[in-house]
Amino acid sequence: MKDKKGISRRSFLGSASVLGTGMLLKPRFTWAVNRGADTKPALLGGEKTFTGSFPRWPIIDATEENALRGVLESRQGWGRRIKNNEADKFETRYAELLGVKHCLTVNSGTSALFTMLGALNIGPGDEVILPVYTFIATYNVVAMHHALPIIVDIDPESFQVDPAKMEAAITPSTKVLLPVHIGGSPFDVDAVLAIGKKHDLPVIEDACQAPLASWKGQKVGNFGLGAAFSFQESKNLTCGQGGGITTNDDRFMNACVGFHHQGSVQEESPFAQGAARGGNFRMTAFQASILSAQMTRLEKQAKTRSENAAYLGELFSQIPGIAPAKLYPGTTNSAYHLYMFRFDSNHFAGMSKARFIEALRAEGVSCHSGYGEMDKSPLVASLAKNRHYLQVYGEKAMNEWLERIQCPVNEKVSRDVAVWFTQTTLLGTRSDLEQIAEAIRKIQKYAKEIRDATV
Ligand SMILES: Cc1ncc(COP(=O)(O)O)c(C=O)c1O
Repeated sequence: MKDKKGISRRSFLGSASVLGTGMLLKPRFTWAVNRGADTKPALLGGEKTFTGSFPRWPIIDATEENALRGVLESRQGWGRRIKNNEADKFETRYAELLGVKHCLTVNSGTSALFTMLGALNIGPGDEVILPVYTFIATYNVVAMHHALPIIVDIDPESFQVDPAKMEAAITPSTKVLLPVHIGGSPFDVDAVLAIGKKHDLPVIEDACQAPLASWKGQKVGNFGLGAAFSFQESKNLTCGQGGGITTNDDRFMNACVGFHHQGSVQEESPFAQGAARGGNFRMTAFQASILSAQMTRLEKQAKTRSENAAYLGELFSQIPGIAPAKLYPGTTNSAYHLYMFRFDSNHFAGMSKARFIEALRAEGVSCHSGYGEMDKSPLVASLAKNRHYLQVYGEKAMNEWLERIQCPVNEKVSRDVAVWFTQTTLLGTRSDLEQIAEAIRKIQKYAKEIRDATV
């Protein structure tokens, strides 16, 4: 692994100051005029507070058009792994940007995770530990290898995996820890890495939402044995569908290259254990050329998101009952794929989270309820009845598994607390953000009426 002590104090403090803006500066804004808070809420027939719109995603210009034309006209390397094709070039650039030794492109974030588990030869009888508060792909990649996904609960303040729950779930069958940088904010990297080290277990980072997020000045994607990134349409760096694997480990990279390319491991690898399983998870040159074009704007957009998140934090600090999801002290940058915040109904006359979201949407503000209860979803429950799992583990063990994966903290957080804005909200103007805060103040002021109205 890379020497983590190589981070300079200057770069750590430099990035910390971007993140810390909201915490260090006194609010400078003049928004407290309460422009909209005195008019009737839109849900009760008043005017919408938010009348603007956020940038249409993805943002494109002639850079993407020229990149695609270049691939078309080259008539080579469209889908093959040849030296210096667009995938090759993007891998070099992305690895440089993250300060990581290797990057391998694949055709989705799901494939990135699936490939890494394949490279570790995960299979029936193995257990992989992952957080409940994540996109279902993190679970599916484990099930696709016929291993047992062990879903664990979250820290209610951050919505990130609770490291203590992760450690408590370890058994002799555990083969991988699969934490997620959810929302693009780092999980507690130090705590999870320490557990991996103590139990001699590889950590695979699901960094699908977290390009350019950093921990103590170093980009995520550097910490585990490997990390997965998604370049799907909604992501901060996108080519429609696509994914990337990063690692600082030569032999692991070699095993991943093999798995993503029909199992053709190029040299003896301890990870694939000679299994040479694999498939076709390769990225096309078209996808990679779009990624390189999109990457020209990535750092600037990331800076805008961070600054706007800090500003929104300042605005929210004046609204009782609304608070951003906690970032751990080691966080020097969040990628803010999502702006996740906590809603406390006690400050909104006891109205439900669902009602709050309804009222905020009526004000013209796009917001989301976020992930639900994966541990209780029919998709997950059906695994306990899957004939392959019944053959491998038996009915008793599968019923016990259903008990084991229950996550009561997440039940409350997902039902009552967590609300999201997506990353494009943070590409808006300060005035957009002020209108959002105004809309929430209006809902707070009329909370009792909104709660009791039948509309
Ligand atoms: C946390 C997380 N993991 C995995 C994935 C899977 O990525 P993809 O959609 O590119 O397959 C996603 C994508 O939404 C994600 O958000």
